[in-house]
Amino acid sequence: MKIGVLRENLAGERRVAITPHIVKRLIQSGHSVTVEGQAGAGAGLADDAYQAEGATIVGRTDVLSSDLIATVNAPQDADLRDTMVLGLLRPFEDPSQMTSYASRGITGLAFELVPRTTRAQAMDALSSQATVSGYQAALEGAKACDRFFPMLTTAAGTIPPARALILGAGVAGLQAIATSRRLGAVVSAFDVRAAAAEQVRSLGASFLESDLEPQDATSNGGYARQLETDATERVRASLAAPVATADVVIATAAIPGKAAPLLITTAMVESMRPGSVIVDVSAGTGGNCELTRPGEAVRHGGVQVIGFTDLASRKPYDASQMYARNVAALIEIIGPDGFLDLSDDILDQITVTYGGEVRHPRIRELVAGR
Ligand code: NAI
Repeated sequence: MKIGVLRENLAGERRVAITPHIVKRLIQSGHSVTVEGQAGAGAGLADDAYQAEGATIVGRTDVLSSDLIATVNAPQDADLRDTMVLGLLRPFEDPSQMTSYASRGITGLAFELVPRTTRAQAMDALSSQATVSGYQAALEGAKACDRFFPMLTTAAGTIPPARALILGAGVAGLQAIATSRRLGAVVSAFDVRAAAAEQVRSLGASFLESDLEPQDATSNGGYARQLETDATERVRASLAAPVATADVVIATAAIPGKAAPLLITTAMVESMRPGSVIVDVSAGTGGNCELTRPGEAVRHGGVQVIGFTDLASRKPYDASQMYARNVAALIEIIGPDGFLDLSDDILDQITVTYGGEVRHPRIRELVAGR
């Protein structure tokens, strides 16, 4: 296949879908790779580095004529048609883009729909990027907080450690716990899934119990189910005291394809001490905090509420390295001739648009407004 790499043009995006190292791997598998000039610049990857591994540097129009375009964000180019596009296409958030792709004969392959099976792990870009986001969220929290994370014993006195509270202990949350612990904070965490408690404790954090029945998510692809309104209210009530005493709250709770659960109300923010911070990793899907403004850091009283939606892009080099490995693993199951075997469970699930239609059942429902 002729594989193309676009320069990401979403504002603030610094990642790139394929790195020079992966160019080499793809060429060894029989593909050719064309890269839009400066595609890797935001991640510190120069055109020369791509060329050295055998890629051709071309203009954007040339890349658009590839058999498969690897991208981080869904390209919006009007003249893009009759090709395969592999990336984080946001099919749940922007189903109309998928309709537009279908009408232009584009086969859209969305990483968001990779199943959570052992075989698919190497292709799980949501997880790789959530790892980066969780790490970066802890750093943003540590930077914005007015207290040290670690306990310090100095000639100027002993400083107690900061208290970090992590809401949602999935991939991003667990990485935020590990990073906050490494920085020396005392960490506690909460999740609705039963399996999370042991994972939280194994990282040296304490797990907050609630009076809800913990969810067994094994039958739901590992994902939590949305709570009923009264259950969310009970969760909020059980979080009121831990939020009030936290120096940093890192909120990562999410339900795939749905708005993020509202866990921190304005009143809860107002109960926090001035100088404390909330980092809302779920800002892009509505946020876990009532005061979150996606893409911004706002102050309410003395509390900072950070709603950056580009956390993974803030560590562009490693985020791109991880993402590019996910891309390569996925291209490997497509095969060198570009044939898409839809009887393969992974390819079946990620193929949102094909043959001029939106074929994924959940995205079809969204397009139909159900
Ligand atoms: P996610 O990004 O959809 O959600 C983040 C976290 O928020 C989850 O842990 C979820 O349980 C939690 N959450 C949802 N509603 C909540 C609420 N009201 N209150 C508190 N927490 C709430 O999930 P993510 O991080 O993508 O994955 C969740 C789990 O899936 C992982 O921890 C892991 O066990 C499993 N997984 C399995 C993989 C595999 O087998 N290949 C790969 C990646 C994850």
